[in-house]
Amino acid sequence: MTARFPVARPRRLRRTPALRRLVAETRVRPEDLILPMFVKEGIDAPRPVASMPGVVQHTRESLRKAAHEAAEVGVGALMLFGIPEFKDERGSAADDPAGIVQQALRDLSGDLGDDIVLMADLCLDEFTSHGHCGLLTPSGTVDNDATLERYASIAVAQAAAGVHVVAPSGMMDGQVAAIRAGLDEAGYTEIPILAYAAKYASAFYGPFRDAAEGAPKFGDRTGYQQDPANVREALREVELDISEGADMIMVKPGLAYLDVVAKVAEMVRVPVSAYQVSGEYAMVEAAARNGWLDRERAILETLTSFRRAGAQQILTYWAAEAARLLR
Ligand code: PBG
Repeated sequence: MTARFPVARPRRLRRTPALRRLVAETRVRPEDLILPMFVKEGIDAPRPVASMPGVVQHTRESLRKAAHEAAEVGVGALMLFGIPEFKDERGSAADDPAGIVQQALRDLSGDLGDDIVLMADLCLDEFTSHGHCGLLTPSGTVDNDATLERYASIAVAQAAAGVHVVAPSGMMDGQVAAIRAGLDEAGYTEIPILAYAAKYASAFYGPFRDAAEGAPKFGDRTGYQQDPANVREALREVELDISEGADMIMVKPGLAYLDVVAKVAEMVRVPVSAYQVSGEYAMVEAAARNGWLDRERAILETLTSFRRAGAQQILTYWAAEAARLLR
């Protein structure tokens, strides 16, 4: 005799919002979110980023205000990107104690103390006249080992300015070891490294290049960032970074790489974060502006998917807004 009723009824647990909340496997908390912020030297008013509606290049003052607001709604951390007034071949402003990132770090650590985690992107592309993430050889390729010394020096400058976590994003070989050694020798043994360990050469960074003004003036980054086709290589990058001393690691971009997030999260025992990059933000904002999707639902759904895949922390330009929605 065939059963008169379905044996199992998963719908029973979906009947009310309270039931659904009770059995939810994944939660996103404001503290899980990291807000990337841009601060530009030499401007008097914040400048909107055209390809990222809602995101601005901050002045030092407007950055302080926005950072305070993010801390107030419980965002876990800020990730600072600086745009200097003057760029040169070696990105001198990146480790100048008077450079824009260092100034902003001093402002924020003075204002906020240890209430929110202050992170800074550690790379050269926003600071070099050529827009590459490292120093160039005479033939115009990025010189890995010469770049490492610059990275170590930037880490020390950021630490001296009050950064809580440095976040190298340049994808040079040996960068985590070089930065760790530089920090330790300068006495900053307690500053952790969040390594952009598996960072792909992605089309989804498009809008960021307007925001951070770091587009390469020639060529592209495929010589140092990873090929989107590879996942085993990502695991290798992650293993290397951890063996060099990374305290936390990141996968970037996010949505198109959730398989990588999931594999990495299974493999490692350090915190795993994922970066929902500028192009992911722009896609949802553009569709929402056209009335093609429900913006807030889409935002929270993407954030949930990162957590479900195994990311503990999520870098997202929606961090402050999402934190408000989640409270
Ligand atoms: C490099 C850096 C980039 C991003 C973060 N750090 C650009 C790149 O690698 O070309 C992209 C972030 C985004 O798209 O939101 N300093």
